[in-house]
Amino acid sequence: MTAEKVQLLYEGKAKKLWSVKGSDDLVIQEFKDDATAFNGEKRGSWAHKGEVNNAMSSALFTMLEGKGIRTHFVEQLSKSDMLIKKLQIVPLEVICRNIAAGSFVKRYGAKEGQEFATPTFEFSYKDDSLGDPLINDSHALALGLATQAEIDHIRKTALQVNEILKAFFRERNILLVDFKLEFGRHKGEILLGDEISPDTCRFWDAATRQKLDKDRFRQDLGGVEEAYAEMLKRVTEPV
Ligand code: TMP
Repeated sequence: MTAEKVQLLYEGKAKKLWSVKGSDDLVIQEFKDDATAFNGEKRGSWAHKGEVNNAMSSALFTMLEGKGIRTHFVEQLSKSDMLIKKLQIVPLEVICRNIAAGSFVKRYGAKEGQEFATPTFEFSYKDDSLGDPLINDSHALALGLATQAEIDHIRKTALQVNEILKAFFRERNILLVDFKLEFGRHKGEILLGDEISPDTCRFWDAATRQKLDKDRFRQDLGGVEEAYAEMLKRVTEPV
C-alpha cells in the first residue's frame, strides 16, 4: 500500500505522527534515532535505532495479531515508517514485569534479577509534566482516563501479551524482564498501540544476562547500537 504523509500531527521524544493523504482512520508513525531517559533529562541518539524499533515492532505486532491480539499495526512502509490505525490513546503506561529491574528495584528495594513466581502488573499515568506517576484502577476511574471495562480488558490483554512474548523470546534465548504497552480506542475497540522494542522492553541474554535494551543507554553501559542490532537479529532470524 502507498501512503503519503501530509501533516505532522505530533512529535514525541522518539517518534513523529503524520496524517495520511485521503484517510481519516490511518496515520504514519515515524521512528526517530533520538532517545531520552529519565523523563527527558538525558538525551542521545544512535544510528539505526528508529529502523530497529520499527522493524522489531512490525514483526512483533504481526506475530501478536496471529495469536489473536488486536493491534494498531497495518504495515511497515519503509525503514522509518509504519502505517497504523489512528488511536485515541488511553493515557496509561501499562507495565508487566517477570524479573525485578528498574523502578521496581528502586521503589521496593528488591534485588535486580529476582524472578517472580507470577508476573506483576501496574499502570503509570502517562503525563510527562507529572513524571508518569504510578496510578491504580480507582484513580484512573476517578480521573476519567478509562472505564472499568476498558481497564479490565487492558489488564487481561497485557498479561496475555506477556505470556506470548515471554515464550517467543525464550525460544530466542532472551529473557523478557519487563515491558511497557500503550492502548488506544479505534472505532469502539481497544487496540494495542505504540511500539514493542528495546526502548520499551528490558531484554537480557538468557545465558549471560547481558542487557540488550535501552538500559545500555540509561546506564551508560556502551554498545547500545550493537545491542539493538542483536535484538533485531534474534527476533527476525528463524529459530
Ligand atoms: P521502569 O522499571 O523504569 O518502571 O520501566 C519498566 C518498563 O517500562 C521497562 O521495560 C522500560 C519501559 N519504560 C518505557 O517504555 N517508557 C518509560 O518512560 C519508562 C519509564 C519505562
